[in-house]
Amino acid sequence: MEYKILYDKISKDYIKIYFLILLKKVPSMYIPSEHLSIKWYDDFKGIDLLLPWMIMSIEIDDQEKYWVREAIDNLHNKPSLASVQKFLKSLNMYPIAYKAPRLVEEIQDPDLQPPPDTLDHLDTTTPTTFLTSLNIPLSQQYYDWAPKKWSWDVAAILNKSQIPNTNLYDPVSVVTYLILYRLNWERDTWSGQDRLVQGLENLLQKDEQKFFHIMGWISRQSHYVTKQFHVSVLPALEHFPKARKEIEHFITDEVGHYKFMEQTLEALGFKSIESVEVEEVTRWMLDVFEEMGKISPLAFSAMVNIFEAAYYEGEDPLSRVLKKSSKPEAARGYDLHYKINQEHRHCDMPIIFSSRCGPQPKSHVALTVHLFEITLYFLDKMEEKALLDMNSS
Ligand SMILES: [Fe+2]
Repeated sequence: MEYKILYDKISKDYIKIYFLILLKKVPSMYIPSEHLSIKWYDDFKGIDLLLPWMIMSIEIDDQEKYWVREAIDNLHNKPSLASVQKFLKSLNMYPIAYKAPRLVEEIQDPDLQPPPDTLDHLDTTTPTTFLTSLNIPLSQQYYDWAPKKWSWDVAAILNKSQIPNTNLYDPVSVVTYLILYRLNWERDTWSGQDRLVQGLENLLQKDEQKFFHIMGWISRQSHYVTKQFHVSVLPALEHFPKARKEIEHFITDEVGHYKFMEQTLEALGFKSIESVEVEEVTRWMLDVFEEMGKISPLAFSAMVNIFEAAYYEGEDPLSRVLKKSSKPEAARGYDLHYKINQEHRHCDMPIIFSSRCGPQPKSHVALTVHLFEITLYFLDKMEEKALLDMNSS
């Protein structure tokens, strides 16, 4: 009954409280990323937290130092210590740790979604066989772009998420570890090195009209994703019923957000949104997401991470660049959207959805990892090509 009230009178605070409760229902232990290192600065005044994808300084109050010191000294060698868990939990709004696999009894719950037996048609031998067997239309150009071999370490992700004494995998461990894996992988990619934002800043200095043009193109991709999202998510309501309430919440929270990008496109001077091209890979990505809603609750849950940020900084990086241009009002659409995503913690959605899944067989984990690799590879290439084309035209 209480839930019904929450659902009917949906509001910012309700959503926040509801999701916090949900997250607490996943009781497993936090394990720090193997890439996390922490150093004290200024004679134990505070700590610098270092990861390949983020750097953060935190001042530590004197009365907290005794347990924070113990936590940091034992971070990697004794993560089960109460002080380590307290430390990692206090920072769980940032991607610095993943969830250890729970015992099978804890997740073999009739209230959770069992993995469907729907993957027999997929051939994950190589990226090309995978794309063909997915059977979602994609032109030859992308097959040519695709890497010849897989490079993501599926075994490492399986290893971190395997449920003790079984050949099954904890969906929450898969998703939380995969997010860390993605962030680490991105540091070697074109967009992960912030080359898009740097390239845009350079273009803005050189040729503002071209800058507005490419910002329009980027905003149009985002417009399509936000407009199509609530349609692509619909099959999951039927095929992933154990997460129905969470998915419905998310749909309610996302509906209408394409208007933010319409605001931006208008401010940039585009008379008609349809005149800006939606890339084939943008459409393909949403089609794949829709398909995952039918065949794999785990892959569907994880894929939300591709549409949402993994964590939030002070400001959307694209908004920051737009504000340096002669049309700073175009940043408003980005700012409003970013604020909602941040306040409603959309970055937690993949974890919330995966917490509604039961134990997973290897096939669904492998599908999820391969899907991340190929989709993120395409997105990276697409951004790089768009900026290079713009610079050379
Ligand atoms: Fe969102």
